[in-house]
Amino acid sequence: MSEQKLYMPSQTFIENAEIKDYQSLYDYSIENREEFWNTEAQKLQWVTPYNAVFDYSEKPFFQWFKGGKTNIVLNAIDRHLHTSCLNKLAIIWEGEPGDVRTLSYHALNREVSKFANILKAMGVRKGDIVTIYMPQIPELPIAMLACAKIGAAHSVVYGGFSVEALAARIDDAKSRVLLTADGGWRRGKITDLKSIANEAMRRSPTIEVCITVKRTGHEVEMENDRDFWYHDLSALPIASAKCETEVMDSEDMLFILYTSGTTGKPKGLVHTHGGYSVYTSTTHRYIFDIKDQDRYWCAADPGWITGHSYLVYGPLINGTTIMMYEGAPNHPYPNRWWQMIEKYGVTILYTSPTAIRGLMRFGDNWVKRHDLSTLRLLGSVGEPINPEAWRWYHSIVGGGRCPIVDTWWQTETGGCMIAPLPTTPLKPGSASKPFFGNVVKVVDDGGNDVEANEEGKLVITHPSPGMARTILGDPERWAQTYWSEFAEKGYYSAGDSARIDEDGYIWIIGRLDDVIKVSGYRLGTAEVESALVSHSAVAEAAAIALPHELKGNAIHCFVLLKQGKTGSRELEDELKNHVAKEIGPIAKPDSIAFVDSLPKTRSGKIMRRVLKARAQGLDVGDISTLEE
Ligand code: PRX
Repeated sequence: MSEQKLYMPSQTFIENAEIKDYQSLYDYSIENREEFWNTEAQKLQWVTPYNAVFDYSEKPFFQWFKGGKTNIVLNAIDRHLHTSCLNKLAIIWEGEPGDVRTLSYHALNREVSKFANILKAMGVRKGDIVTIYMPQIPELPIAMLACAKIGAAHSVVYGGFSVEALAARIDDAKSRVLLTADGGWRRGKITDLKSIANEAMRRSPTIEVCITVKRTGHEVEMENDRDFWYHDLSALPIASAKCETEVMDSEDMLFILYTSGTTGKPKGLVHTHGGYSVYTSTTHRYIFDIKDQDRYWCAADPGWITGHSYLVYGPLINGTTIMMYEGAPNHPYPNRWWQMIEKYGVTILYTSPTAIRGLMRFGDNWVKRHDLSTLRLLGSVGEPINPEAWRWYHSIVGGGRCPIVDTWWQTETGGCMIAPLPTTPLKPGSASKPFFGNVVKVVDDGGNDVEANEEGKLVITHPSPGMARTILGDPERWAQTYWSEFAEKGYYSAGDSARIDEDGYIWIIGRLDDVIKVSGYRLGTAEVESALVSHSAVAEAAAIALPHELKGNAIHCFVLLKQGKTGSRELEDELKNHVAKEIGPIAKPDSIAFVDSLPKTRSGKIMRRVLKARAQGLDVGDISTLEE
């Protein structure tokens, strides 16, 4: 339930904030949406000016800054080289074993240019899609920026994903080039990325060139003619540190990012150079109230949208110093993050409720022994934050002085859609108010606004510049999934349920579809099910999410075995490990129950709702469509 107490920003915070009056700028941005975005877009560099801010002649396919020519790298790196930003740190990186690397904007430009020239020498051209599968090392953002610089799109696959997830994404994007690393460090152990990449390449044969960054130095299998070490290539004359940035159309593809939906096939959401540059930099600057001297740490992995928008692109466009860390938050001890905040003087921390809950359980003393006085702002993203974790984050980590920006958004929206500004009075657990230019509503099945505090479907009434443009190779699915339910009104369906209270504060309740959030990571029940049925003993499977204190949700599965197979403890473990091996450790089910039948509708659809209600001991509701 909502808490009554309002947390007010300090007077100093308000005095120093760029935007002091949310409401009047918000009202202006809704009444003058195109002018608002035009003003923001003018803060960026364009090679050729756009001739229309917004074009919606082919609904639901929209364009922003049509006709404009730019490149996100022009704004994230190139223009900083002509300002005092040149010598500023762009990246402070710490590896899990404690090794440190720092790159100024000058150095980042050299590294990106080198990587870009290597890609060109390997035949990568404008419009190609390069798959990147790396741990959290500086080469990951460098590789992303290198692709963008030469006009190739990147498809980053989270380093915690495994063989099948990687293979399916390579296949869908038809990538010819894969960029990876031998491994990364996690809890003192090596994650063997190259072996997973090798197996994925056997399953999806489109890859002709694989470039591997040496990180851990353990022995890996390299194949002649296909595999190259990055350090070998970068020592060749082809790897010059000078590279022209390709001029791109505003609507040209910048990257693909796969995300889970209701079917087993992940969707490759397409994001573009122009609108995404404008949206990520604007939201980053205003929501985090970015100052030149900030040391900003977004603790998300670049393999997810949060990493793309708020670790890499938004902050670099704003010339911010970003902090990056390779490993686990509690390695070797639960004070690792606090130690780094103290050591590097981090001013802003942006992380997930799962990470906060995970660190909270070790107690206050691990935090309190560090001087965290440099922190001035905190952020949360990915799942609803429970008021208890919010208050701990606020009082223990933030010393009671740091506003918390709880940001709601999605891979599809590219940037934060609902968030407080740091000057907004806060209610723990609410993502507060819509960002400029967005109208957010909670509606019933007919698309009508529900009453205050009533639960309904979360919709956004108008396309925003940072939203994806389509699903790679499947525009029909884009229109169908997000724009068809309330087509008459032109609303975007977010797939979340929510309520809006009497003060206009938005409270997110959770997903309405078969998407689940486990530790803030987004998975589809269908992906877990298809991993289970790929095991030789399994005939059918159903996966559901149940509330979990730490992870937000945990995955529970129901499995119907093939004839002649019997369930056992050993088989349960084998199936759990099988899912982890196919998708990744994050998808490992918490429990597997062997059943004789699964509840289905007469048309054969598994009724997960019934399984979920039964598992929670709740009323199963309307089961009139249930097959006998
Ligand atoms: O259910 C919402 C939840 O995460 C979903 C989007 O997941 P993904 O595409 O992985 O992007 C996550 C990072 C932007 C949403 O549909 N979600 C995200 N942020 C919040 C949230 N739920 C509650 N509060 C949030 N702040």
